[in-house]
Amino acid sequence: MTSEVRITPSILNADFSRLQDEIAKISPVSDLLHLDIMDNIFVPNFTFDFQKASEIISYTEIPVDSHLMVANVDTIAREFAEAGSESVTFHVEAASDITATIKGIKSTGSRASIALKPGTRIEDYSDYLDQVDMVLIMTVEPGFGGQKFMADMMEKVSTTKKLIGDRPIWIQVDGGISMETIEIARDAGADTFVAGSAVFKSPEPAEMVKKLRLLAGSR
Ligand code: DX5
Ligand code: ZN
Repeated sequence: MTSEVRITPSILNADFSRLQDEIAKISPVSDLLHLDIMDNIFVPNFTFDFQKASEIISYTEIPVDSHLMVANVDTIAREFAEAGSESVTFHVEAASDITATIKGIKSTGSRASIALKPGTRIEDYSDYLDQVDMVLIMTVEPGFGGQKFMADMMEKVSTTKKLIGDRPIWIQVDGGISMETIEIARDAGADTFVAGSAVFKSPEPAEMVKKLRLLAGSR
């Protein structure tokens, strides 16, 4: 059986001084661009403020998958949708009203997604599966690229897939995805793969995206 897979490169480990060129390298072969937003509060790292993120979203030619690792995310989530993100993902740990935040994102026409840190159980959030378009299961602690893939998160991916059942909800994994780990995540049930350092530390980022897609798509 083959199923649709998506490769969503993260620019976190790209060269920020020439970001537009870095994004252009992978755009022709990628499904979405994964844009990591960190506020130095929810995670101990900072990436882009809203203004810079909006600029990136505007010049990126492929759809943007904004991953918000920010505290008090309820209002800013909708603003990222209004700025033109195809998909906005927020952490359940950072929202005070999850349903309202999802509705805010979807009211703009964007896809809405919830993210779970490694210590957060999907069973506690299964009621929201009727409202979301994607679930992001973190396979590292959010904050930094280049960390080791947490294989023990695969059980959470399988549980999420079971809970989703027939609903057309994507399952994304983020953290440590590479040629060595992508098949493990696919076998557990993931269909949407973030890859940061695997792609941008590669001498040929576009070729790496293609290789990851082949591995993820082959069964
Ligand atoms: C980590 C970010 C990831 C990161 C992944 O908190 O959410 O998207 O860029 O980087 P790699 O693929 O290097 O683990
Ligand atoms: Zn991310």
